[in-house]
Amino acid sequence: MGDRLLLAIESSCDESAVALVRGGREVLAERVASQTAIHAPFGGVIPEVAARAHHEWLPRLLNDVLQEAEHLGVAGEIQGVALTTGPGLVGSLLIGAGVGSAWAWARGLPVLPVNHLEGHLRAAWLRETVGADEPALPAIGLVVSGGHTLLVRIDRDGSIQRLGGTIDDAAGEAFDKIARLLGAPYPGGAALSALATKAPRGARITPLPIAKTDQPYDFSFSGVKTAAIRQAMVANGLSDRSPWRAATLTRQFAEHPLSPAAAITIAAATEQAIVGALHAGVQRALRAHPDCSLIVGGGVAANGPLRAALASVASEERRALVVPPLKWCTDNAAMIGAAGDALLRDERGAYQEPSAGLEVHAQWRIGTAVPI
Ligand code: KG4
Ligand code: ZN
Repeated sequence: MGDRLLLAIESSCDESAVALVRGGREVLAERVASQTAIHAPFGGVIPEVAARAHHEWLPRLLNDVLQEAEHLGVAGEIQGVALTTGPGLVGSLLIGAGVGSAWAWARGLPVLPVNHLEGHLRAAWLRETVGADEPALPAIGLVVSGGHTLLVRIDRDGSIQRLGGTIDDAAGEAFDKIARLLGAPYPGGAALSALATKAPRGARITPLPIAKTDQPYDFSFSGVKTAAIRQAMVANGLSDRSPWRAATLTRQFAEHPLSPAAAITIAAATEQAIVGALHAGVQRALRAHPDCSLIVGGGVAANGPLRAALASVASEERRALVVPPLKWCTDNAAMIGAAGDALLRDERGAYQEPSAGLEVHAQWRIGTAVPI
């Protein structure tokens, strides 16, 4: 046990990625091609364009990783192919599943369908150095990305209980939408955060309101966006009561950009609100689950104030915290290899014949065996 070698493929959104992972922990080779520059002019991911880019890139990345496997002398040891089969953009998922199953079928290898969110959580088990500490279970897991905001409890391999998640926009999506209003190109989360750091020391920033949700571990971020738009309208001399449509506003703010001071204030208020809501949710979960450590995944984990807030709540509650290095927080295939390996260690795990035809799922709630 522990040293199975898997090839892994990720293509659920706008990153094409291939990796070779040993024992669910050690990354022998990996390649990621980001499509951010392709989608930036559209202000978001265009599914058809994403699928075509995966079609162009995945075979090349696969070739590169396999060449590296040859150099390492491990190409013959690959025992299976872990593939993201949901949740995500169906066209993109189909390209990854098609490329991966075809390769597996040609070599008589089985495939493993992996949930992308489970991948984000499993990234915490990837080790940069052999022998490094790994997450302690049970753990509270937070996934915060452009497409997802999710809180779970993980008891052991394969036993993941969903505690809550966003009921509207994901945290990263809220960052990106407000960043766009402030004039930053897609995806604007990092730019918004950089803007927020320019707020003068001691400046009084009133965080934007975060809507309360019925469930204690759910999040709602669409209200932050509305509040930011209203603040921006007022800063530009418009009444916050005038009717607005997203397209009109985007044009209006492109023609009359916010003053630097207003943009900084709105950025800081946005960041405080989103980080505050995530912090509160995690604190509540840790207090209700005193036996749990904390693990985090997803691209928004790059956010400095969020990392600081999670570090401080973990230390206040005396819990171990694992946040993977940034390259494994954003979409990558190594985490899919780690999740595939975990699937085989628990009772759910079963390889599938690639010739059986893989189904992909736009929606797939974590913690369920059957996608819903
Ligand atoms: O996990 P990821 O690479 O892609 C998805 O699976 O969605 O996450 C990308 C998201 C984007 O929304 C991006 O704006 C956000 O992560 N992000 C940040 C920061 N860096 C990336 N959000 C806030 N602050 C950052 N520093
Ligand atoms: Zn992701």
